[in-house]
Amino acid sequence: MNSSPSVSNPVELDPTKLPAHVAIIMDGNGRWAKKRLLNRINGHEKGSETVRAVVRTCREIGIPYLTLYAFSTENWQRPKTEVEALMTLLKNFLLSEQKELLENNIRLRVIGQVERLPAKVQQALRETMTATENNTAMTLILALSYGGRAEIIRMVQEVALRVKREEVDPQAITAELIAEHLYTRDIPDPDLLIRTSGEMRISNFLLWQIAYSEIFVTPTLWPDFSREELLEILKDYQSRERRFGRVDSQSVK
Ligand code: FPP
Repeated sequence: MNSSPSVSNPVELDPTKLPAHVAIIMDGNGRWAKKRLLNRINGHEKGSETVRAVVRTCREIGIPYLTLYAFSTENWQRPKTEVEALMTLLKNFLLSEQKELLENNIRLRVIGQVERLPAKVQQALRETMTATENNTAMTLILALSYGGRAEIIRMVQEVALRVKREEVDPQAITAELIAEHLYTRDIPDPDLLIRTSGEMRISNFLLWQIAYSEIFVTPTLWPDFSREELLEILKDYQSRERRFGRVDSQSVK
């Protein structure tokens, strides 16, 4: 992989102002397929190719954390054939990418209700996570059977249990304590949230963690999303002033 993106493409990024964590709501696979009179599953297949390209690009430019919303808690309600096809795609992605993840020093993590996933997907996840656990250049986080509300409910249950056991005083419940009980406990909050296909929605994604994320919505459907567009979005991100609730003169560059 090329570690110097400015050599291979015209968008000049400031390496000192890169987001530490990019999170992406990958939307529009179905519409991409419909526009071409194809099956929705063909859209997801093409979408997996975009996943590969985006992971590569983030690794090349040095983004430490990338989270992809691949399957939501709500997605279980889709037709059985579509759910099965998505699970097979995921399994195949994990098996086929394991070598590339290892070669490129990428660690795989998963957030969500892993126990609800088919055994074959859980197995592939376990294998790939174990094989890549000591990798340090980038962490790829797949959100699978993930829902922000479900994550918050799980956190409240854990914290309530600790209060009941008198391990935690209710007055000692802080933002830090809450964050420690989320799936993302050792992952920084996303600096940049990207959503493809134009919908202005959060769709139950990382509800706690995106409190101060910069949001970028592009009309591009996920299968058409490209390395070039990602670089343009990162350029736009670098031009934004992040204030975290403070005034201009205190802004965080
Ligand atoms: C949203 O498009 C996309 C999904 C629900 C699944 C995302 C899955 C992939 C990109 C492929 C597999 C993932 C990996 C990590 C290999 P949609 O079906 O909601 O599109 P629509 O809104 O146009 O119908």
